[in-house]
Amino acid sequence: MKVTVFGIGYVGLVQAAVLAEVGHEVLCIDVDAKKVENLKNGQIPIFEPGLTPLVQQNYEAGRLLFSTNAAEGVAHATVQFIAVGTPPDEDGSADLKYVTAVARTIAEHMTEPKVVIDKSTVPVGTADKVRAVMTEKLKERGVDIDFNVVSNPEFLKEGAAVADCMRPERIVIGTDNPDAIDPIRELYEPFNRNHDRMILMDIRSAELTKYAANCMLATKISFMNEMSNLAEMLGADIEKVRQGIGSDSRIGYHFIYPGCGYGGSCFPKDVQALIRTAEHIGYQPKLLQAVEQVNYQQKYKLPTFIQRHFGDDLKGKTFALWGLSFKPNTDDMREASSRVLMEQLWAAGAKIKAYDPEAMNETQRIYGQRDDLELMGTKESALQNADALIICTEWQNFRAPDFDAIKKALKEPVIFDGRNLYDPERLEKRGFTYYGIGRGASINPVL
Ligand code: UDX
Repeated sequence: MKVTVFGIGYVGLVQAAVLAEVGHEVLCIDVDAKKVENLKNGQIPIFEPGLTPLVQQNYEAGRLLFSTNAAEGVAHATVQFIAVGTPPDEDGSADLKYVTAVARTIAEHMTEPKVVIDKSTVPVGTADKVRAVMTEKLKERGVDIDFNVVSNPEFLKEGAAVADCMRPERIVIGTDNPDAIDPIRELYEPFNRNHDRMILMDIRSAELTKYAANCMLATKISFMNEMSNLAEMLGADIEKVRQGIGSDSRIGYHFIYPGCGYGGSCFPKDVQALIRTAEHIGYQPKLLQAVEQVNYQQKYKLPTFIQRHFGDDLKGKTFALWGLSFKPNTDDMREASSRVLMEQLWAAGAKIKAYDPEAMNETQRIYGQRDDLELMGTKESALQNADALIICTEWQNFRAPDFDAIKKALKEPVIFDGRNLYDPERLEKRGFTYYGIGRGASINPVL
C-alpha cells in the first residue's frame, strides 16, 4: 500500500520506517531540505535504538522515500499522515500552524479522494479545524473532492520507539465516517494480526485519549514525587513504599518511580496543553495544575540538596554530572532535569564536568562553549577532582560503578542521586554521604 507521511520528526520518521519495513511504500515529505538530503545519505537526525538500520535498509529497498516536494507527496497515496510538530506557543497551548499548513497543502494539490490521518498530538477539536482548512482550500480552487480526516494518536516512547511502533499495545482510530476505516485497517493489518488492537471511536475521544494517557502517566509520577517529599520529611524510604504499593495490581509497578522530575517532548508539553484547553473552556483543571507544579519543584530538588550541603555560594566547586538526556536511551534534552540542575549550579558559581552516553553533542548544541561546562569522554574522567557526583539520568551503565574508584576520584565522597540507583545503607557503609530522592533515613528526617 502507498502512504505519505508529512513531517520527518520523531513520530513521522519512526512510523514511516516501520510501515516501510512491513512492505508499504512510504514517501516522507519535509520542508527541511537538509534533513531530507541527510536521510538520503543514511544520516538519521535523532538517536533511537534500531532506527538507523531500519531507515537505511528500507531506503535502499526503495520502500522508504524522502522528498521536499509536497505536490509529489499528495499525489503519491490516498493515505496521508500528518506527523508534524505541535510546539507550545507562549501560553503553553499547542501551536497548530504546522498541522494546518500541511492540511492546506494536501487540499491544494489533491485531485482525488484522500484519507488524512492526524498523528501529531493535537488538542481536541483539531480534526474539525483540519477539515475546515481543507474545505476552504478546495472551495478556493473551485473543486469538490471527497476526503476524510482521522485521528490516530501515537503512543511511542523515546528509546523504545521502534519496538513500540512495531508491536503497538493499541491502535486508536478516531473517525466520524466508517468509510475511512477500510484503508486504515489494511494499513495496520500487519501490526494487528494476532489479536485486534484497533480501538475505534469518534474523533474527539481519540484526540482526548492521547492527552489522557500522557497526563495519567505524568500524574502517577508527580504523585510519587509528592510521596517522596513526604517520605523524606517523615523518615521513610520511598523505594520501600514504591514496592509496597506497586505490588497492588490495581496500582502496578509502572510509572511510580520517584526522581528529579519528568522531562521529554511529551509529558511537560501535553500536561500544559490540556491545562490550557481546559482553561479556554472555563474549567479549572486543579489536578493537572498540581501535577505540573510538583514536577517543576522536583527539578529543583537536587540543586537544593547540593546547596544545603555545600552552601549557597558554589564558587570554586566542580561537580561531576552523570546523565544529561531526559531519560536513558535517547539523546533528547528537551525539558531534561539536568538542564535545570546545571543552570542552577552555574548561577551559584559552580563548574560542571558532564558525561552522557548519547547526549553530549546535544548539550554542546544547546549550551555551546562555556568555561563552566566541560564535556567528558567517560564517566570516570568526569569524576576526577570533582567535589561530588550528581546523577540525573538512569543509564544502565551507571547502575553498578566502581565505588572505590569514585571515592578516590572525588574530593569528598558525596553522591546526589536523582534516580535512586543505589542502596543508601550500602553507600553509607562505604563511607559515602548519599542523597537520594525521598529516602528519609539518609536525608536527616525532620521528625
Ligand atoms: C511518553 C509516553 O510514555 C509515551 O507513551 C508518549 O507517546 C510520549 O510520552 P517519553 O516522553 O518518550 O514517552 O518517555 P517516558 O519513558 O514516558 O518518560 C517520560 C519522563 O518521565 C522521563 O523524564 C522519565 O525519567 C520520567 N519518569 C518515568 C519518571 O520520573 N518516573 C517513572 O516512573 C517513569
